[in-house]
Amino acid sequence: MIEIRKMELSDTKAAAQAEKLCFSDNPWSEQAFVNELNNELTSYYIASDNGRIIGYAGFWNVSGEGDITNVGVVPEYRRRGIAGMLIKKITDSARALGLSSLTLEVRKSNIAALNLYTKYGFKVVGERKRYYSNREDALLMTLILE
Ligand SMILES: CC(C)(COP(=O)(O)OP(=O)(O)OC[C@H]1O[C@@H](n2cnc3c(N)ncnc32)[C@H](O)[C@@H]1OP(=O)(O)O)[C@@H](O)C(=O)NCCC(=O)NCCS
Repeated sequence: MIEIRKMELSDTKAAAQAEKLCFSDNPWSEQAFVNELNNELTSYYIASDNGRIIGYAGFWNVSGEGDITNVGVVPEYRRRGIAGMLIKKITDSARALGLSSLTLEVRKSNIAALNLYTKYGFKVVGERKRYYSNREDALLMTLILE
């Protein structure tokens, strides 16, 4: 059974393993997830299938605006709506915190992610030139929550 719930410190090892499967460029370590969970400005969720972590997503509360840090679903579980479930969860959570918006950066070439965020109402609001370590540009996408 697939479930979405808050990420706990006991999930950080598996979250880092999932992150490695999702991001080849500078994946976050287990310690990076621990640091995030220990920061009171963050909210992280995981998707699990009978206890196995198969996806995760999180955001920061930056002065009343949400900044999505990462969203990932392990390859074998993709195209089953799991990222959509995570996006809905973080949108509800950001609304409950009274945040005005959710913003994220996405590689221009990441069609799956661009389609995902567009499907859930995010709009391209800007560009960050040479944002990534390979100098690829990022698109800035925002969902207004008010
Ligand atoms: C992007 C990612 C999180 C999508 O996860 P997912 O669980 O497969 O997404 P969903 O099944 O919820 O798909 C939701 C929508 O996203 C879009 N989408 C997802 N994968 C896609 C793909 N391979 N090609 C085109 N569109 C895609 C579609 O619009 C899809 O809606 P649809 O199924 O009605 O067509 C996943 O591919 C991933 O982890 N990629 C690597 C990490 C990454 O790039 N994260 C985002 C960084 S900003």
